[in-house]
Amino acid sequence: MNQKIRIGALISGGGTNLQAIIDACEDGRIDGEMAFVGSDQSGVKGLERANKHDIPGFVVEYGPLIQTYRRDPAKLMLPEDFDLSEILARQHLFPADSSEDRIRAFFCTRAAAERRLLSEIDARGPLDLLVLAGFMRNLTPYFIDRFNTDPRNPRIMNIHPAILPSFPGVDGYGDTFRYGCKVGGCTVHFIDYGEDSGPIVGQRTFPILETDTLDDVKRKGLEQEWLLYPECIQNFARGRVNTVKMTHRLDDGQVCRRTVVKIAQTD
Ligand code: GAR
Repeated sequence: MNQKIRIGALISGGGTNLQAIIDACEDGRIDGEMAFVGSDQSGVKGLERANKHDIPGFVVEYGPLIQTYRRDPAKLMLPEDFDLSEILARQHLFPADSSEDRIRAFFCTRAAAERRLLSEIDARGPLDLLVLAGFMRNLTPYFIDRFNTDPRNPRIMNIHPAILPSFPGVDGYGDTFRYGCKVGGCTVHFIDYGEDSGPIVGQRTFPILETDTLDDVKRKGLEQEWLLYPECIQNFARGRVNTVKMTHRLDDGQVCRRTVVKIAQTD
């Protein structure tokens, strides 16, 4: 029997991807076991799903921390090891000309929430992989650097409802549909300091017909997500996933650099 990796999940809602991952762990399509499910919202269906499978759950609500900061920034407890200038030097979530107050508010409130996430995660023992399964919060460098301790081996995965790099953001299928695309898709990628911008682990596509509604697109997309995420996680579990920087010299002499997630075909 193959060794199992320990997987944690973060969610914000219904958790159908979470369910697909739990099922794949239980029926052996993923050599892994779920260590916990964390949510930024209480009372969501995904937590119920975890509970049904005896997977420990926890909630870190971002809302109250954001409210505290809005009322009085000095009242927000920032982590002792939080250094805003360090985070600003790394982040790719905001363009350089964004309002300073807005950026400060964002990274301070996120660090306060992410400190709690890290404590909850640490309390549940060693973890091999963190999967974001419909987690609707951007993680910042504060969290990413403390979780991804070896930058060459990223271990936070996300699933996004579009063929990245098209349509990042909160409404991938909606954006795909409104653009009039003939093909939609989903992407599993590692998290980096930007929004939906990290190295791509896997993608699946589906056709969009002229008669399709937005609901049809979401349904077709989710069906692909439920296949894609377990496949990508299993590749990670079997040690087949390797993130490499590649350099190509084009015919005109220009050098083209890219980060590629190589998937070994055998274990
Ligand atoms: C999924 O479509 C997932 O790709 C998307 O949220 C949905 C969650 O569904 N994620 C994002 O948009 C992340 N930016 P689920 O809770 O049923 O798995």
